[in-house]
Amino acid sequence: MKGVRKMNKNNLTRREFLAAVSTGTVAAASGGVGAYGNVSKKAGKPAILGGKPVRTKPFSDWPIWDKSAEESILSVLRSGNWYRGRGTKVSEFEKKYAELMGTKRCLATANGTTALLIALHVLGVDAGDEVVVSPYTFIATYNVLILSKVLPVFADTDPETFQINPDKIEERINENTKAIMPVHILGLPANMDKINAIAKKHNLLVIEDACQAWLAEWRGKKCGTLSDLGCFSFQNSKHLPAGEGGAIVGNDDEIMDRCYSFHNCGRAYGSVKRTSGYPIRGSNRRMQEFQAVILMSQMKRLEKDTARRNENAHYLTSRIKDIPGILPHKLYEGVTRAAYHLYPFRYKKEYFNNIPRSKFLSALSREGIPCSGGYGPQYKYGLIEEALNSPGYKRLYSRERLKRYREENHYPDNDQLCKEAVWFSQRLLLGTKRDMDDIADAILKIYENRDKLA
Ligand SMILES: Cc1ncc(COP(=O)(O)O)c(C=O)c1O
Repeated sequence: MKGVRKMNKNNLTRREFLAAVSTGTVAAASGGVGAYGNVSKKAGKPAILGGKPVRTKPFSDWPIWDKSAEESILSVLRSGNWYRGRGTKVSEFEKKYAELMGTKRCLATANGTTALLIALHVLGVDAGDEVVVSPYTFIATYNVLILSKVLPVFADTDPETFQINPDKIEERINENTKAIMPVHILGLPANMDKINAIAKKHNLLVIEDACQAWLAEWRGKKCGTLSDLGCFSFQNSKHLPAGEGGAIVGNDDEIMDRCYSFHNCGRAYGSVKRTSGYPIRGSNRRMQEFQAVILMSQMKRLEKDTARRNENAHYLTSRIKDIPGILPHKLYEGVTRAAYHLYPFRYKKEYFNNIPRSKFLSALSREGIPCSGGYGPQYKYGLIEEALNSPGYKRLYSRERLKRYREENHYPDNDQLCKEAVWFSQRLLLGTKRDMDDIADAILKIYENRDKLA
């Protein structure tokens, strides 16, 4: 694939390189393992085999708060105005978030799932439609489409960037396609130039799932603001956390008025005029005043934390990129900033004496580095079949259409990525350069001990 990083720094062919790795001669060929860092001489026995771990100090906790939040939370408590209809805090947050994003409007919601459900409904994505989306995402992205009685049509993943492969979108479009839903997964921007160009060509809506991408940027513009509507999550693990919470951002007043009205049980709002008590359908998807004050307090640290995550992520990449079998994620050329909700790389076990990823993850954890394997192939999980077998789907979609859907529901690149991915949580990136060295040293230590671990 275009732009694939050459794994071999010594101009060996891939086959020669693999042979060298398996016989252990690659270290000499590449100037010794010391070429990957200075850990080699003190690496010692892996912690999983009883050695001393690289690190015993915990990484940063999350979320992080200070006393300054307490007063505003107490003032909401004491006011008795806990819901937005009686308070001012949610509206205040919406103004601040729209300003931060550079959009005309923001609607705060109960959570990110409801933000996506509102956006889909208001933009007219309806039962029987198809939406092209990435299979590599948190399950909420699948759920909002299924709950909208839409067919989630997946386009395979670009394993280098972990994002929807923009070159695989067009083949998934047909006369039933209504929208593309790019997800800036892991806080790394999807290729919005290509996605928007395809949408324009086929007259499709674009709704960004930016639930992991606060302050990420594509060509200097914030993710979530590059399409018809962008949706965010403020759940506890997120960079702007309030336990639960979400937002929709956009620039079209009429659409944003409809979002407001829908999220408030369909009551009249702005251009949604009062023709009766409830002029449109709706639901209660409102944010609470407590969530808003926590968010405004958390917003104070977002910029600084984002800068730190980026700095550490880039340094970590520079430390691990030459370790054989470790392929750090790539960012598209249009990315001017990532959010780094997670730091991902691919683990190629053939460079580690075929140690399975599960063992690599255990060994890394035992060295004091928390890590995970990330998402699985969720399109093979029960929820898709459960939806397709439901009476509603059977009424909406012909037998032939569902048969074709099942036959096409295969994503080899994503399958492979799900087997190879390794993630570090954003909180690991909030530390120091020294913390990044610990991560890199631990990976190197496992690499050096691959014979003992196999
Ligand atoms: C990519 C993605 N989409 C949607 C959501 C849903 O957000 P929430 O959990 O706030 O409902 C999340 C949250 O984890 C997410 O990561």
